Amino acid sequence: MKRTVLFTVLIVSVCLILLPSRHAAETGTFTYDDFSEPKQCSICHGEIYREWQQSLMSQSFTHPWDDVEYFKLALPQALKLEKVADVKSGCIGCHAPVAFLAGDIPPQPPAAGTRANEGVSCDICHGITGSTEEVPYNFSYRINPGKVKYGSRKDAEPQFHETEYSAFTGSPELCANCHDEQSPYGAWVKETYREWAAGPYGSQGVRCQDCHMHYAPGKSTPMGKERDDIAHHVFHGPHFDQKLKGSVDLALYADNPEVKRGSRVVIRAELYNGKVGHYIPSGSSEERMLWLEVQVVDGKGNAIRIPVDKKGFAGEEFTIADSQAFAYQAMGEIMEIPGYKGIARDGNLPDGSRIFRRPYFDPKGRMTICQWYTEKNTDIDYRIGPRETKLETYTWNVPDKFPSQTAKITATLYYSLVPSSVGEFMKLPSYAYEAKAVNSASLDLTIK
Ligand code: HEC
Ligand code: HEC
Ligand code: HEC
Ligand code: HEC
Ligand code: HEC
Repeated sequence: MKRTVLFTVLIVSVCLILLPSRHAAETGTFTYDDFSEPKQCSICHGEIYREWQQSLMSQSFTHPWDDVEYFKLALPQALKLEKVADVKSGCIGCHAPVAFLAGDIPPQPPAAGTRANEGVSCDICHGITGSTEEVPYNFSYRINPGKVKYGSRKDAEPQFHETEYSAFTGSPELCANCHDEQSPYGAWVKETYREWAAGPYGSQGVRCQDCHMHYAPGKSTPMGKERDDIAHHVFHGPHFDQKLKGSVDLALYADNPEVKRGSRVVIRAELYNGKVGHYIPSGSSEERMLWLEVQVVDGKGNAIRIPVDKKGFAGEEFTIADSQAFAYQAMGEIMEIPGYKGIARDGNLPDGSRIFRRPYFDPKGRMTICQWYTEKNTDIDYRIGPRETKLETYTWNVPDKFPSQTAKITATLYYSLVPSSVGEFMKLPSYAYEAKAVNSASLDLTIK
């Protein structure tokens, strides 16, 4: 009897050690068959499936810029430069986790239609049980795919699969696994979670989910329970105008609303980030552009741009648009373009626009959009933090012969996912780099 008990204990402990459960993410530890296709979930969770499909989660491997950046830049460099060799699988650990876990590295390009195309699928987020890191980053998730789906409810009555309550699913640390990234050079090249944790929303416990998922009464499947707070899988970010618009407040003031010709007026712009739970831009801040254009329009509709007043901080030149500044030489080097001098650092921005950005520098000291090839990015950070306000001034010297009795000052805050120069150079579809208006404001002046 005793021996049987001992034997059972032994067998159980051996099984516990050998079971694939709570595995740290390592490439090749599973097969594609260990993961259900999202389509299977759509049979019962149709609404959630359609939301997920619209979000970037389902497109994280297939959409054009990801396709181009991995296959034209990161992968070729990983095959040439030992220091960045690991990004061959690293990019895939976050962008096509099923392929990564199945050891399909490098995956076929999206056009081949493999299961890499599923992106961040249902079974990834609902298979993740935790992280190997106390503060997760670089696809440090532990995952246990299979019959059991991990979720936030203790009273789910599923069909077809089982569920297990996991506090991790509803935690921001789930997101941190993929939203914080360290480059092979040790630079934090994505730190949305860390920004959030250090800011007001982290300390008040407002989670990523609270702003990026919607909660409404209903059912998660026709067979499910009626609940007050079904989690909708929107995951909208700056790829969706409806999320981006108005995310920063903008106010304009003049030190004197009545100005004499030949004198000057100082216009003040206030930009308040009251809605974004981390910096704006965040995430891929190596390439995101947020900038303010200010102009004066006379009575006849002619517009003159007003450049931002310099503040004089170190590295400020990277935050003021300059059509003569060139950057991104690493792209040409990787693509082996002889004599490549780089392209316009600020794309087609009008000179003198203030750019709220955090420039990244490669090991040769050049500004780069290759986040995996980034050595340094901490010296200059002029993005707008959560609940932070940036004040900018614009001095306008009213010409002696200004033609009208009134002048309208207009300010527009724009965002683009990638500098237009990079978008054009890499032949991306124009929506991938066009300027989207986040907010605008105007002010009327009387000219005497
Ligand atoms: C045959 C129908 C059916 C299919 C197919 C199905 N589910 Fe479910 N699922 C349910 C039902 C029923 C519930 C319980 C709903 C409730 O209690 O409100 C549920 C609940 C869940 C939950 C919630 C668990 C929690 O703790 O909140 C998750 C997560 C989940 N399913 C994931 C999936 C995934 C991923 C797939 C595809 C691999 C899938 N489901 C396929 C019927 C299904
Ligand atoms: C990026 C991660 C992520 C992906 C991808 C994802 N989910 Fe979820 N899902 C969550 C989180 C987080 C919650 C719980 C939200 C909370 O705790 O506030 C959740 C909740 C659910 C629930 C419970 C809903 C409720 O409120 O009762 C179901 C069912 C579900 N997911 C199914 C799916 C299906 C099906 C897919 C794929 C089509 C999917 N999920 C993809 C993160 C994800
Ligand atoms: C397995 C990795 C993974 C996990 C876990 C994950 N994400 Fe993501 N997420 C990604 C990737 C990859 C992208 C980039 C998609 C792209 O642009 O190609 C992304 C993009 C996003 C975006 C930007 C969408 C846009 O419109 O630009 C938001 C918002 C987001 N995720 C929120 C979340 C939240 C909230 C969670 C946690 C509940 C989460 N993610 C968990 C991998 C992940
Ligand atoms: C208080 C609400 C709020 C919270 C909390 C929040 N976000 Fe956001 N997030 C936003 C808004 C609004 C945007 C759209 C504006 C923008 O792009 O910054 C956004 C944008 C993003 C983007 C795109 C960043 C870019 O510039 O490309 C990502 C990725 C993202 N969020 C992930 C997360 C993750 C992960 C967390 C938790 C660690 C989180 N968010 C917490 C409101 C929030
Ligand atoms: C730790 C997880 C992680 C790793 C590793 C990672 N990414 Fe990402 N990637 C993300 C997330 C999350 C986003 C979305 C951030 C945002 O919206 O600002 C993203 C955004 C992007 C974008 C921008 C997409 C767009 O539409 O603007 C590209 C391109 C990209 N990644 C390519 C790569 C390549 C190539 C690699 C490998 C060198 C890589 N990523 C490594 C998580 C990761």
